[in-house]
Amino acid sequence: MQIQRVQLQQHGDERGMLVALEKDRNVPFEIRRVYYLFATRNQVHRGQHAHRHLNQLAVTVRGSVTFLLDDGSGPVEVVLDDPSQGLLLGSMVWREMYDFSEDCVLMVLADQLYDPADYITNYDEFLREVNSPMLLGDVAACQSR
Ligand code: TYD
Repeated sequence: MQIQRVQLQQHGDERGMLVALEKDRNVPFEIRRVYYLFATRNQVHRGQHAHRHLNQLAVTVRGSVTFLLDDGSGPVEVVLDDPSQGLLLGSMVWREMYDFSEDCVLMVLADQLYDPADYITNYDEFLREVNSPMLLGDVAACQSR
């Protein structure tokens, strides 16, 4: 699921709309953490990192934001501007977020607690690791010995 846009089922009636996020039903991982970004200042770029072992689902509950995503095969831009759509991001995806609308509330569900050690914050280092997956396997194998 490295990068996938998903349509979330909307339960709408004459009163308005509702979207439910549920483990295994429309969220393909155990939800261990939820965080959200809001009041993001004009012109700000956030993210600028990848995760070695983290799956996430991002939803713009309100407003819009642009993601720049790279799984090692080159950058793509994805605009999130619909609370009934989610963006699934697997591990080893470089992400940057910008063009936040003033009212943007970007909610993110994650399958791990916050762990600064899981971050790759240098793009060249990310490219090195994503292009040599054995690097990660080797580290895991060494640690389990
Ligand atoms: P940061 O990683 O800089 O956000 P982004 O990548 O979206 O630009 O996080 C901002 C601050 O919030 C930083 O001090 C770490 C903290 N933080 C947590 O405490 N828990 C979390 O789950 C996240 C994502 C960040």
